[in-house]
Amino acid sequence: MDKLLIEGGVRLKGEIAISGAKNAALPLLCAALLTAEPVSFTNVPQLNDIRTLLRLLADMGVKVAHEGSTVTLDASALTNPVASYELVKTMRASILVLGPMLARFGEAKVSLPGGCAIGARPVDQHIKGLQAMGAEVSVDHGYVLAKSPRLKGVRLFTDMVTVTGTENLMMAACLADGTTVIENAAREPEVVDLANCLIAMGAQISGAGTDVIRIRGVERLHGTTHRIMPDRIETGTYLCAAAATGGDVRLLDTSSAYLDAVVDKLMDAGCDIVSERNAIHIKGPQRLKAVSLRTSPYPAFPTDMQAQFMAINCVAEGTAIIRETIFENRYMHAVELQRLGADIKIDGNTAFVTGVAKLQGAAVMATDLRASASLVIAGLVAEGETLVDRIYHLDRGYEKLEEKLAVLGARVRRTN
Ligand code: UD1
Repeated sequence: MDKLLIEGGVRLKGEIAISGAKNAALPLLCAALLTAEPVSFTNVPQLNDIRTLLRLLADMGVKVAHEGSTVTLDASALTNPVASYELVKTMRASILVLGPMLARFGEAKVSLPGGCAIGARPVDQHIKGLQAMGAEVSVDHGYVLAKSPRLKGVRLFTDMVTVTGTENLMMAACLADGTTVIENAAREPEVVDLANCLIAMGAQISGAGTDVIRIRGVERLHGTTHRIMPDRIETGTYLCAAAATGGDVRLLDTSSAYLDAVVDKLMDAGCDIVSERNAIHIKGPQRLKAVSLRTSPYPAFPTDMQAQFMAINCVAEGTAIIRETIFENRYMHAVELQRLGADIKIDGNTAFVTGVAKLQGAAVMATDLRASASLVIAGLVAEGETLVDRIYHLDRGYEKLEEKLAVLGARVRRTN
């Protein structure tokens, strides 16, 4: 199993390009199921989660052409309209095939994703929404079976803000009979990116980016070419790495437009950040100040940046209070950070992090994608060597991580 060996203590310096967003690419690739015409995507990140989804789509009969960062999907016919447990279990976002498959083919069979390291993460809202649109849904032997000759446009209200839930229902509604209104919709930029692509495919959608999205169903959608938006979480992660090391880094092909909450916190921590056209320039201070935060749906502070901010608070001056409100078990990185000498106390969904003058390198274990990123950041500032085990988590969501860090001067090496 691959591990990442990091020799800490280098100030990151230089320029790197940010990749396309994983969390935008996943629903967008599923949207290709909504049309019989080919759909092309550019700026697709080369990540394990993307490869898993492409394998799943190919397994279902979608023709996949993948060259570099361009992917063309042709879902003119599905030979096997089943999303099997083998592929779904490795990536929860596979549930995103449910809505489009049901809307276009009238039936779908998708394995339930099951639990994952950061909590139970049910899909009840996806199912409830499709049922409200007239689908017959049952769960049989671990599979969601959904049927409906044609979904009906209705008013939907989700119990909580759910990103993939909103995306699944928005995609399904594109081919429904009548108008669907999704209230309490997720406002994440990835939802807007998906809506923009669907509109280019002929869908009639308004309100994406607000908490009420209206979708007037159409008979069919057509092909298009869509460029995937920049990855705001990858951007935020490199901003944190630069901040923690007192670095001077320019991130290209990205924008601070989707990162207000994160940029604000980094400025509070003492960083100097300049937003440029399609780039962000950050300079970290000699020592960061502790910053407290509370995770919430967009546009508030993202749960996917919580672990990275815990890492920077480990070496900041003062005590930070972190509250995780989205997932119930998302502090698994805390014990690993403690192995590096961090001072962290957890009480339910609250973490108290008091900065120490120095972290010390040690062997640590990655537990999930963003937890792994926090360990890398901590390793970059720790004295001596940090060995991060189970970096397959990182390969799910960070394209060319060690290459990009090496460009910035970090001493990192993949070993096994
Ligand atoms: C997406 C992101 C993930 C991010 C998360 C929250 C993708 C592919 N993944 O995940 O990186 O951490 O948003 O910003 O975009 N919930 C239910 N029932 C449901 C759906 C959700 O109870 O049917 C709960 C979840 O358990 C969680 C909360 O709602 O507590 C938010 O989850 P959700 O927004 O759905 O997360 P994902 O879309 O899976």
